[in-house]
Amino acid sequence: MSDGLERRGVLTVTANPALDHTVIVPHFREGAVNRVREERRDIGGKGVNVAAFLADAGVPVGVTGFLGIEDAMPFERFFAERNIADDFVRVAGTIRVNLKIVDDAGGSVTDINFPGPRLETADVDLLAATVERLARSREWVVLSGSLPPDAPTDLYARLVTAAREAGAETALDTSGEALRLGVEARPTLIKPNIDELRELLDRPVVGGSHVARAVAELHRRGIGVVIVSMGAEGGIFGEDGKIVQTRSPSVPLVSTVGAGDASLAGFLIARLAGGTLEECAVQATARGAAAVTTVGPHLPPPERVAELVRLVEAS
Ligand SMILES: Nc1ncnc2c1ncn2[C@@H]1O[C@H](COP(=O)(O)OP(=O)(O)OP(=O)(O)O)[C@@H](O)[C@H]1O
Ligand SMILES: [Mg+2]
Repeated sequence: MSDGLERRGVLTVTANPALDHTVIVPHFREGAVNRVREERRDIGGKGVNVAAFLADAGVPVGVTGFLGIEDAMPFERFFAERNIADDFVRVAGTIRVNLKIVDDAGGSVTDINFPGPRLETADVDLLAATVERLARSREWVVLSGSLPPDAPTDLYARLVTAAREAGAETALDTSGEALRLGVEARPTLIKPNIDELRELLDRPVVGGSHVARAVAELHRRGIGVVIVSMGAEGGIFGEDGKIVQTRSPSVPLVSTVGAGDASLAGFLIARLAGGTLEECAVQATARGAAAVTTVGPHLPPPERVAELVRLVEAS
């Protein structure tokens, strides 16, 4: 590195992590006393998922963002088990909980989504300072997922700027206004899906030629790498005027949770190893496909991932 620092691995930023709490309540009834037969709690949030995928692949990784202290423990355990450096800013209150009530007898699913912690201005400033400090020793800073309700909408834009000034490459994967403002801060890489791209450009995007034109426009706006993920179809990857299009292998679909995060992690795993655009695109596509074959944000065993890598078509 030209600044003489040794940079290693990735920092991921999750402004709004979640705790997914699923309870199985046979014959669930509104306005009655209901009994839970089974429950499971999964920690979530896009940056947390990306960090877990990177750590599983042996990439040195740290995490930050906002963590409500009242529910921090399962996150702390998860990070400790995976050797992920935890620099989350602790904030007062709870983490955003997504409660899912599954009635397997009656066949209904009820979702109750909590808003998450309230933020103070000091929390936002502390996160910006944390990103600035940690970005100095990382190769990439990844900013992923939605913002908490009262966070400033330009939070990711501000963090992209802080990370870039600290000399790190930046990847932004969010949507809506946070993405639009984030793009103005010129991250190294963005990974919208088709819907997010359409919203970002505020015009219809249908088919490969529209996507290629969109990618060129985003390059002109200062984004070096543009990944447009297209679900089961694969993705379009643009860098330096070069475009690689991939076709995802067809896989048994179990759950799409974490597909986008696995594909972003796949791209970075290959890039950190010095991969070309095509190699990065193939890893991204294979790992996204691998993620949909499992429940939750997990990958199947490495042999299966390697098999999917061989099945991806790139042109
Ligand atoms: N049904 C599928 N079959 C095969 N591969 C898939 C499927 N869904 C997703 N993928 C793979 O995962 C990648 C990312 O998926 P997708 O485009 O759905 O991301 P996303 O919309 O950002 O998802 P997320 O909800 O995780 O943010 C795709 O480019 C593709 O490689
Ligand atoms: Mg996504």
